[in-house]
Amino acid sequence: MTAAIQRRLEIPEPHRAERSELHPDLNRAHVRFIGLGKTYEGRQGPVAALQGIDLAIQHGEVFGIIGRSGAGKSSLIRTINRLEQPTSGRVLIDQVDIGEFDEDRLVALRRRVGMIFQHFNLMSAKTVWQNVELPLKVAGVPKEQREKKVRELLELVGLQGKHKAYPAQLSGGQKQRVGIARSLVHDPDILLCDEATSALDPETTQSILGLLREINKRLGLTIVLITHEMAVIREICDRVVVLEQGRIVEQGPVWEVFGNPQHEVSQTLLAPLQHALPEELQSRLHAHKPAHDAAVVLRLQFTGSASDEPDLAALFAALGGRVKLLQGGVERIQGHALGQLILAVNGSPSSAEQLGERAGQWAQRVEVLGYVV
Ligand SMILES: Nc1ncnc2c1ncn2[C@@H]1O[C@H](COP(=O)(O)OP(=O)(O)O)[C@@H](O)[C@H]1O
Ligand SMILES: [Mg+2]
Repeated sequence: MTAAIQRRLEIPEPHRAERSELHPDLNRAHVRFIGLGKTYEGRQGPVAALQGIDLAIQHGEVFGIIGRSGAGKSSLIRTINRLEQPTSGRVLIDQVDIGEFDEDRLVALRRRVGMIFQHFNLMSAKTVWQNVELPLKVAGVPKEQREKKVRELLELVGLQGKHKAYPAQLSGGQKQRVGIARSLVHDPDILLCDEATSALDPETTQSILGLLREINKRLGLTIVLITHEMAVIREICDRVVVLEQGRIVEQGPVWEVFGNPQHEVSQTLLAPLQHALPEELQSRLHAHKPAHDAAVVLRLQFTGSASDEPDLAALFAALGGRVKLLQGGVERIQGHALGQLILAVNGSPSSAEQLGERAGQWAQRVEVLGYVV
C-alpha cells in the first residue's frame, strides 16, 4: 500500500457502512435510483430496457446485479456515470441528482466513477504504463504527479514489473489489472464492473476478486458489479438485486437471496450452486413406504436466518433411530451458515411427517423426499 493511498484512507468516509450493519438507509445512500426507466429506440420499435427501478446502494458496499441476458443490467449500471441517459426517473449520487449536470459536472462525475469491462478496453499500441497514464494526461495532470500516481497504482494491482509491456504480452488477468489501475487514476469513490471477470479462467477470477475486495476495503470504494457467475456474487457481494425484463424481481443481502431465493428467475440463476440429488439416490427413492424397515429420506435446508450451524447431536437425538448422512454440506456466506443435509432415518418409531416436523426445529426448510430400502 502506497503512502498516497494510505493518506486517503485516513480521511474518514462520511457515511461508510460497515459490512455487518448494511441497511438501505435512503438518506445516506451513495447511489439511488428513483422510478428509473430507460427505453431504446430499437429497429422493431421501442425497447423498454428498464422500468420503475427504485434502489439504493450504500457507501462502501459491494453490490451485485444479476439477471438473464437482456434483463437490463448494463443499462442500469451505465446510468450511474451517465453513459446511458435515463428516459424517466432520477439517479442520485450522494443525494445529488446527476440528471441536471452540464458537461463540466459530467466530466467531474465520470472521474468519481471508475469502470472496468469484460474486454478490458486497453489500447493495444500503448504500454501498460501509457494505458494507465492516458486518462491523467487527458485531464491535464502534471507529469510528476502522473508518474507518482501510475507507479502507485501499478504497484497496487501487482504489475510493478510490467510497465513497458504491451497488452498483447499480458495474460487476461494482467490485462484486467491494467483496467483496474486505469479505473482508479482519479481516486473514484464508485467502481462499476460490467462482467469484469467473465473472460477469465476460474483461478484468475479468484485473484481479480481478491484485488477488488482489497480495493473495496482499503480505499473504501463502493463497488457495483454485474456478473453471470453466481459464485462471484456469493464470494464478494454484500447485497444483490435480481433484474428480469427491466424490473427488480428480488433484492436483499446475498446470504438471504442465495439461501432462500423467492423468485423463479433467482431460483433458476442460482440452481447451479445448489447440490442436486445424486441420480443414484433419486432412482432408489420410493414415494410410499415400500417395506416396514425402509428408511425415511429427509432434506434439511439451512438458510442461516434462524439457527446457526446445525447441532447434529441434538438433531439426531430428536429424530431417533439410526441416522445416515447421504449428502450434504454447510458453507458460510457473510457469517451465515447455509447448506443442506440429506439424511436417511431408519428404525424410528415416528412417521415421516413427525420426523419432518422434528427436523424443522433445526432447519429452516424440511422436505420428506421419500423412502429407501
Ligand atoms: N443501444 C441499444 N439500442 C437498442 N436496444 C438496446 C440498446 N442497448 C440495449 N438494448 C436492449 O435493452 C435490453 C437490455 O439490455 P442490457 O442492458 O444490455 O441487458 P443485460 O446487460 O442485462 O444483458 C435488451 O433487450 C437489449 O437488446
Ligand atoms: Mg450486459
